[in-house]
Amino acid sequence: MKTEGGTDAAKRRAGERAAEEVEGGDVVGLGTGSTTAYAIEAIGEAVANGLEVQGIPTSFQSRQLALEVGIPLTTLEAVDTVDLAIDGADQVVDDPDSSAHGALIKGGGAAHTREKLVDAAAERFVVVADPSKLADRLERSVPLEVLPDAHTVVADRIRDLGGEPTLREAANKDGPVVTDNGNLVLDCEFGPIDDPDELAAVLSSVPGVVEHGLFVDLADVTYVGTDDNVAIRE
Ligand code: 5RP
Repeated sequence: MKTEGGTDAAKRRAGERAAEEVEGGDVVGLGTGSTTAYAIEAIGEAVANGLEVQGIPTSFQSRQLALEVGIPLTTLEAVDTVDLAIDGADQVVDDPDSSAHGALIKGGGAAHTREKLVDAAAERFVVVADPSKLADRLERSVPLEVLPDAHTVVADRIRDLGGEPTLREAANKDGPVVTDNGNLVLDCEFGPIDDPDELAAVLSSVPGVVEHGLFVDLADVTYVGTDDNVAIRE
């Protein structure tokens, strides 16, 4: 019998709870990662039971899973509205007293450019996470998708800004990770990030950066799966 670890169970709970928000006729942004995969599977099950929705995938990975579970797909160009986007996160600020409450770091799956496009276009953006993702402030490394020719000059600029960039390598060490858009990823350590909005603006201004993984003021709600429940953070 297949057993599920605590984190997987929490991810499943969060993903399945988010999928319950999907209504007939919705256009749904389909995020990337292991937590969102549970939401995509649950939406697929609802489609099999007659729910009519269209999905917009944010990566090759989420596209493949959506096709596998039978979710009809569309594109941003073909629709007027994206009703809902469901997506995971690598870190989420969970401090209602902080001006950064709800800010995210994304891009662990190197899909943050398309994720940001789709999540930002959605009327409602639902984040799905397990408790290990919650933090008082952002402090993980920030992924930057960069044009291949630009990775060394962007890395120099990041060092000038006080950051420590690392070119992301493929798991098999066979070369760099290449994104769905044919670009590279620099993971940039900045230490604790007190003002994600300010850092986001600086990173967006660096030539050669296609997109960074800071998502500020985008999320509407976070569903945090726990061992036996789902906590809602707004
Ligand atoms: C991909 C992402 C993912 O949403 C993020 O890495 C979380 O993944 P997981 O749910 O597997 O922990 O940003 O670019």
